[in-house]
Amino acid sequence: MQSKTVSDLLNQDILLQEVEVKGWVRTFRANRFIALNDGSTINNIQCVVDFENFDEGLLKRVTTGAAIHIKGDLVESQGKGQTVEIQVKQLDVLGDSDVETYPIQPKKHSFEFLRENAHLRTRTNTFSAVMRLRSALSFAIHKYFNENGFYYMHAPIITGSDAEGAGEMFQVTNLNIENTPKTEDGKVDYSQDFFGKETNLTVSGQLEAETYAMSLGKVYTFGPTFRAENSNTSRHLAEFWMIEPEVAFMDLAGNMDLAEDFMKSVINYVLVNNKEDLEFLDKRLEDEDKKKPQAERSPMGLIEKLNFVTENNFKRVSYTEAIDILRNSKPNKKKKFKYLIDEWGADLQSEHERFLVEKHFKCPVILFDYPANIKAFYMRLNDDGKTVRAMDILFPGIGEIVGGAQREERLEVLKEKMAAIDIPEEDLWWYLDLRKFGTAVHSGFGLGFERLVMFATGMSNIRDVIPFPRTPQNAEF
Ligand code: 4AD
Ligand code: MG
Repeated sequence: MQSKTVSDLLNQDILLQEVEVKGWVRTFRANRFIALNDGSTINNIQCVVDFENFDEGLLKRVTTGAAIHIKGDLVESQGKGQTVEIQVKQLDVLGDSDVETYPIQPKKHSFEFLRENAHLRTRTNTFSAVMRLRSALSFAIHKYFNENGFYYMHAPIITGSDAEGAGEMFQVTNLNIENTPKTEDGKVDYSQDFFGKETNLTVSGQLEAETYAMSLGKVYTFGPTFRAENSNTSRHLAEFWMIEPEVAFMDLAGNMDLAEDFMKSVINYVLVNNKEDLEFLDKRLEDEDKKKPQAERSPMGLIEKLNFVTENNFKRVSYTEAIDILRNSKPNKKKKFKYLIDEWGADLQSEHERFLVEKHFKCPVILFDYPANIKAFYMRLNDDGKTVRAMDILFPGIGEIVGGAQREERLEVLKEKMAAIDIPEEDLWWYLDLRKFGTAVHSGFGLGFERLVMFATGMSNIRDVIPFPRTPQNAEF
């Protein structure tokens, strides 16, 4: 007899004698019905015990959270709600769970409470569904690139550069920070540090990925990135995962096509392969929505929204057009925006992005050709001398989900842009080399993985779509 998963058993089309399964007790009702889950599916298998045949002491140990091992026959269910169930012949408790102190009781817990118990929260339906979807989305991402001729590249985690130039880095050092060696002019002497220079955790693998695109052609990274942004919002993490494709000989239009096709493909993957989890999350959102006033309810259900994204074209709009729309919008005129838009050049806040996507266009939007001075140094300058070939993809409920650009491939222009913001050429000599030896048009983008998981699961706080969130003042677990 071989141990099967709950998913195997529930999807079995013939009834079986003598099956074996291991899992954790969700509930034990009427001293007779055990709802057992092992993580293989959102559904529990019902295991029916004839209490006369079992020791009372043993049954007392079948409590919520306990790990058990069951042997029995898979039979047609007598009750409602399931087609098959296990008639239990043998029961072993592998690991007890104390009823008094087990935090995950069979009732509704708040997400805040579950965050404090992040080590146990995947024992709930919601979090197990979210994390199975997270896993499926990662697989879908690798699958997409693999099928489209991309190489997977591992960018370094420890680096000396600040790709985004925003200075939001976590420093990496093994100097004794309470007593650092000093140079003659009293500054920290980094030549004595582990790497002989100042280093930090990467904020993006892009610059390194560009070196690989300029030799292997089509590459992508998928790894952890770190930002010491002190923004305690529901969309920011200090440690998050980013997917960054980079492609040689591709311009901004090609970059938009790639990003749109890629986003649709990975969303479609979970629509096809993760139906049960999506149906559960869809229902959860619908129930949540019912508690809200009419005006705040979402116009679409979760699955409906995912289908909508895969079936409709993303709207492509220049920054300049977007500013016109925003300037003339109701919330701007009625001063409802926290940051009012009055002139060209303003940086867009999440409230503006969401207005464009949710109220104005009512579909995903790709904004392009942003003002040079609100975007990173590596973006290609347009002929107007004031905008760059940047693109951001904005999604309903999320705002910015992807940020990318065509890269500045002209050595002199790049040098000027670096000089203007004081990036020493010595620091990025290797990046400049790409522009000296066989330079070419190339482009890429970065997708914030957790923002994608938020979108695909309908979760509204980014802390609930990563196993152990790292945010300001919090690095538990
Ligand atoms: O727009 P960003 O900063 O772009 C880059 O890092 C480029 N180097 C990407 C590239 O062109 N290869 O970040 C890309 C995406 C954002 O659109 C957002 O989805 C996500 O990364 N992101 C974050 N996600 C969670 N927490 C944060 N603090 C994030 N910062 C950015
Ligand atoms: Mg961005």
